[in-house]
Amino acid sequence: MTDAILLQRDRGLLILQLNRPDKKNALTRAMYSRLAEALEQADADPTINAVLIQGSSECFTAGNDIGDFLEQPPADLDSPPFYFMKSLLNCRKPVVAGVAGVAVGIGTTLLLHCDLVYVSRDARLRMPFVNLGLCPEFGSSLILPRLLGHAKAAELLLLGEEFSGAQAAEWGIATEALHSGEAALAKAREIAERFEVLAPGAVQVTKQLMKNVDREQLRQVIEEEGALFTQRLRSPEAIAALSGFINRR
Ligand code: COA
Repeated sequence: MTDAILLQRDRGLLILQLNRPDKKNALTRAMYSRLAEALEQADADPTINAVLIQGSSECFTAGNDIGDFLEQPPADLDSPPFYFMKSLLNCRKPVVAGVAGVAVGIGTTLLLHCDLVYVSRDARLRMPFVNLGLCPEFGSSLILPRLLGHAKAAELLLLGEEFSGAQAAEWGIATEALHSGEAALAKAREIAERFEVLAPGAVQVTKQLMKNVDREQLRQVIEEEGALFTQRLRSPEAIAALSGFINRR
């Protein structure tokens, strides 16, 4: 079996690549745990200056593995998806994302917690939580209305409307939209490498200051969303919608 998370070290840069192409890089419990461990390692290792998260130039991720959601739904806030997101939120090193193709569910949510996000213009982002009988996760119900206003955020969170990489950049969800998937990944790599020559202490203090502003409120919202999300995963609405995807063919 090939490794669904490829780890690559290039000087002070740690690259985490999602690599499950036959399933559109859908994230399994094992993949979350691997990502979380790598982020914790990056946080603790003084020789790592920055982390780059990417998929391929065709696909970022189709979100949580739906089979996993049905078979072993996360029961509490220590389960693998929560462990991964906690590691991302706690990572003091800058995290850069390179995004092309689909970024669904947690694939979009996680971008809200990266520092610099490069997308292809035609990337397809979507948070179909309501469509799956679920609810927003990891602070998106706080962050998106603040960024976009309630009415626009409602289109994304209540209706689960898809939006493009170009729109993500226009709305401040992404840093920049590039003309192709290859260009988005190349730009993300180029920017992540910039941290090689920036003073790491100053970078970390600056990130900490930027993130401190909302930390307590964000923590409370994430806890509330998490409790509702784990409940909803066991609801008849969610079970019917998730089973519908599995049985669609
Ligand atoms: N969990 C598990 N498997 C998934 C998956 C997911 N989230 N997303 C895609 N896959 C699998 C498909 O079942 C298919 O596997 P198969 O070939 O063994 O049947 C394979 O990946 C390719 O997916 P497919 O749907 O054929 O690709 P597509 O290009 O037509 O569509 C998506 C891509 C992402 C739009 C579509 O797969 C999709 O909507 N996935 C679900 C996204 C989602 O709701 N995520 C959860 C959010 S909480």
